[in-house]
Amino acid sequence: MNPALPASLASAIAQLLEGVSRKELAVRAETLSRAYRGGGTSRGVANEADVIAYLVARLPATYAAVSAVFARVKETMPAFAPKSLLDIGAGPGTASWAACEAWASLQGATLLDSNPNFLEIAERLASASQSAALSTASFAHGDLNAASRLAKADLVVASYVLAELPEDRAGKIAGDVWALAANTLVLVEPGTPAGFARILAARKTLLALGAHVAAPCTHEAACPMQAKNWCHFSQRLSRTRDHMIAKSANVPFEDERYSYLVVTREAPQRRAAFRIVAPPESAKAGITLEQCGADGLQRETIARREKDKFAVARRAEWGDVF
Ligand SMILES: C[S@@+](CC[C@H](N)C(=O)[O-])C[C@H]1O[C@@H](n2cnc3c(N)ncnc32)[C@H](O)[C@@H]1O
Repeated sequence: MNPALPASLASAIAQLLEGVSRKELAVRAETLSRAYRGGGTSRGVANEADVIAYLVARLPATYAAVSAVFARVKETMPAFAPKSLLDIGAGPGTASWAACEAWASLQGATLLDSNPNFLEIAERLASASQSAALSTASFAHGDLNAASRLAKADLVVASYVLAELPEDRAGKIAGDVWALAANTLVLVEPGTPAGFARILAARKTLLALGAHVAAPCTHEAACPMQAKNWCHFSQRLSRTRDHMIAKSANVPFEDERYSYLVVTREAPQRRAAFRIVAPPESAKAGITLEQCGADGLQRETIARREKDKFAVARRAEWGDVF
């Protein structure tokens, strides 16, 4: 289970929820979720109440996914210590909060969004943060097409943003935001075929621009995922009571599926041979791992008798390098 939201974020959200009718919250959250499930955008987020519904129904999951991705960045690039952050399509600042938890080195942050309703709440939430970067953050209202006027940052993040734009623009936009990354760009998208299609288009453009892939790929060869297969991962997160009410849910957790891409200016120093791209399958004979590496996808069954390797495989999880 992913770590819970930072205490100061959870309590700032709880304050915003004071006096909000849970019935109305559930209706707004359902409208939002239906729009996202249908491949829609955040354009319907038209007021503070809609943003509050996002905070309860979607932020915990996007926070969990982006935190899981940052953990992968830290695995691959342990020496990376970004000082500046640019959060593109920041919404309520989800990725910025996750970045400040991941890197205490961050000193400054800029949050860009075209929706003033999101930005206003992002600013109120950030004022509750103790991190140097969030408590002094700048908030830029505007379209990401105009992002080139912003200063470069060590770490640029676009979390669940490409999904809101036409698929055929994903590569071009990825190239534009890459130009703002002094060191690393992180893209996170829903773990659906449509989300992955955008990640794939971004990967192609970014490699052509000379970027190096740090994760999830352990290589820079053509992506071997075929039509019915899409590269995605899953993060379990717990649901609070309000989260359950907002989603009319009866289990206290959910699994957020996401696709992602991390590219850097310099090739990562540590590269594993493979990443596990599906849940490991355990059977009597051993554990079967679906792995992606420079030679493509391969299924490997590690027999119980291969004692040392089996011991490692038994602990391996979907998304780990192997
Ligand atoms: C699904 S929300 C994601 C918010 C946040 N990044 C997260 O992970 O929770 C998508 C955000 O992208 C913003 N967005 C969509 N298109 C945009 C554009 N063309 N320029 C700037 N922001 C945009 C929306 O306003 C919204 O805040």
